[in-house]
Order: sequence, then structure tokens, then C-alpha cells
Amino acid sequence: MRLSDCHNFQDFRKLAKKRLPGPVFHYIDGAADDEITYRRNTTSFDDVDLVPNVLNGVENVDMSVEVMGQKLDMPIYCAPTALQRLFHHEGERAVGKAATKYGTMFGVSSLATVTVEEIEKIAPGPKMFQFYFHKDRGLNDALLERARAANFNVMALTVDTITGGNRERDLRTGFTSPPKLTAASALSFATHPMWAWNFFTKEKFDMPHLSGHVQAGTNLAVSVGEYFSTMLDQSMNWEDAEKLCAQWNGQFALKGIMSVEDAKRAVDIGCTGIMVSNHGGRQLDGSRAPFDQLAEICDAVGDKIDVICEGGIQRGTHVLKALSVGAKACSGGRLYLYALAGAGQAGVERVLGNMRTEIERDMKLMGITSLDQLSRDNLRWR
Ligand code: LAC
Repeated sequence: MRLSDCHNFQDFRKLAKKRLPGPVFHYIDGAADDEITYRRNTTSFDDVDLVPNVLNGVENVDMSVEVMGQKLDMPIYCAPTALQRLFHHEGERAVGKAATKYGTMFGVSSLATVTVEEIEKIAPGPKMFQFYFHKDRGLNDALLERARAANFNVMALTVDTITGGNRERDLRTGFTSPPKLTAASALSFATHPMWAWNFFTKEKFDMPHLSGHVQAGTNLAVSVGEYFSTMLDQSMNWEDAEKLCAQWNGQFALKGIMSVEDAKRAVDIGCTGIMVSNHGGRQLDGSRAPFDQLAEICDAVGDKIDVICEGGIQRGTHVLKALSVGAKACSGGRLYLYALAGAGQAGVERVLGNMRTEIERDMKLMGITSLDQLSRDNLRWR
């Protein structure tokens, strides 16, 4: 299977499965418990149908949006995800360059493997920093100030990882960061020699925003669940979020809001955006899907704050459905991670290119020329 054979999400997933050692693939692909929420994140879109209009003169369509003060050339961006150089040696560099080429935003995690300073140089477009609130307050300050100095446009505080999700695939494969060499993992590395060659001979694995402060994850192999449970501050509360928002003093979002009550509190503490998200189904299995929860959240706060629908998006029509309900934009992680793993920058570019083509085609077929023409009038719940 080659990149040119990849036309949709499932194709990229197959490519990644072929290229990655099992533990790494299952880290991306897996979710919490029985993975019910993970599956629902996508199937929730099937419960709503689009009702198109015709004869509207749609030769030129504009799919740009403005979200949290950033002008994006397309209504979907690359959500921040951790550990990207584990998936492909180009890591965050590939995602940043591809997003810049397509004029969209991308997120960089506190658990990234390339520095924000380097990313600033290679990706001048809109950038989001994904903040994890650590017990180590010195580390928290350092993360914020480093992102500010590197001119990141949006700060997103992760609020759905107060403890590690139960990712049973990782327990079974023994996936850790950095990867541990065990008999089973050595076998999976040996049967994926290209990945192993790149990982072991290129730039040493590091999470440079953390490694000066903590051992875990860079020098000490831990699972991501363990990292969340031991390094992050479980006492984090609304006061902490409000202080961080004030300290950042710019575009600030809470990533992982699912209830109307919390969405309203996000407005009250001064946030300019929220990601309606369940962390890709990787945390609380049995929790609701972002798209299912979107309408009530948009009804409550959609005129006060930018609502982003994150999770489960695989198609241009999913984006159009979310925007019809009231989201300002969508974002996805696995959406581009399989492609990154399969083909680096070229892979991520192909995903964004495919998405652009799909959204343009779908807008024309819906009979609209700009995204603000979408509304719930063009949706029917089954
Ligand atoms: C995860 C974190 C790191 O879900 O975002 O694995």
C-alpha cells in the first residue's frame, strides 16, 4: 500500500498499521475501556442527515473561518497530539509545515518532541499550544512563557486528563514513552525495520519542554496513563484555570469540555474558546460524543465563545454537520496521525488536501458558497 492509494481515513489507518510497530500503532489507534465512546465519536454523525439546496451558483466557494482570532483557510485544523517523532521521524515538523501549507492551525502538545522555538521558525501560521497542568508549578510557568516567547497564538488548557484513562491496548502491548526494549517490542521493531532505523539512528527521542524538569517520559519509560496520573495535578480547579487564563492574557481555550454547565463557566473565567471533546475516547469510556453534545453547548454559549467540535471527524460532511449545528471549526488528532505515521509531511499534506477537496465538493453539493450559510435548517435528525 502506498500513499497514493490513500483516499480516506481508513486507508491512512491501514498504511499506518503496516508501517508502525504494534505498540506504537495501538497507542494511536486505541482508546479507553471498551472503546465505545471512541466509536460513537464518529458514528454520532450518522444520526443526522444533510438536506441540500440546489441551483445556487456555486462555482466559487469560500471555506475560510475565523476562530479564536485566527483566520483559517479551511474549517478543520490539526489538534495537538503528543509524541509525534515516535510515529514518524519528522514529527511535529511535518505537521507544522503541512498545516502552514494549507493555511490552517495546528496544535503543539506540552508532550511534543520538537521545541516550540523550532516550530515557530518553520511554521509561521496560526499555532496552538496544548497545556498540561503539572504538579511542578515551575514547569507550568516555563511552558506558558516558552509558548508565549515563540509567538503561539492560542493557549489550550487540557481539562479531561485529570487522571490516566484505562487504555487496555497499551497495557497489553506494554507501550511506554520512550519505548521499552522487551522481547515482544524488539520483535515488533525488527519486523518494522524502516521505523526502527529512523527511530534509533536519527535524532534522539526527547520531549524537550519537559525534559529539563521531569525524568518521566524522556529518560524514564512510562505509559501515558501513568504520566497523567503521576505528573499532572489532580487538585486543578476552576480557580487555577482562571489564573492561567489571566496569566496568558490572550486567546485561551479549555480543551475537553462536555457539559453546558462547564461551557458557561469557561465563558465566566474569560476563555475565548472551548473544544467540545472527550480526548478521542481515550479517557472516560461511556461518556458522550462531542457531536451529540454540540447542540446544547452551542445553544448555551455559541454567541459568547468559539465552540470547536473535536473528535471522530473523518469526512468533509462531518465538518459541515458540526458547523451546521453551531461549531466555528473542527479539529482532529487521529485524522492526521495515521498519515503522519505512514508518510510524514507528504502524508499530512495529503490528508489536508483530501479534506479540502471533500469540503469544497460537499459545499457545492449542499448549494452553499460560504460556511455561514449552514444552519440547523439544513439538518434532519433521524
Ligand atoms: C493521549 C495524550 C497524550 O491521549 O493526549 O495519549
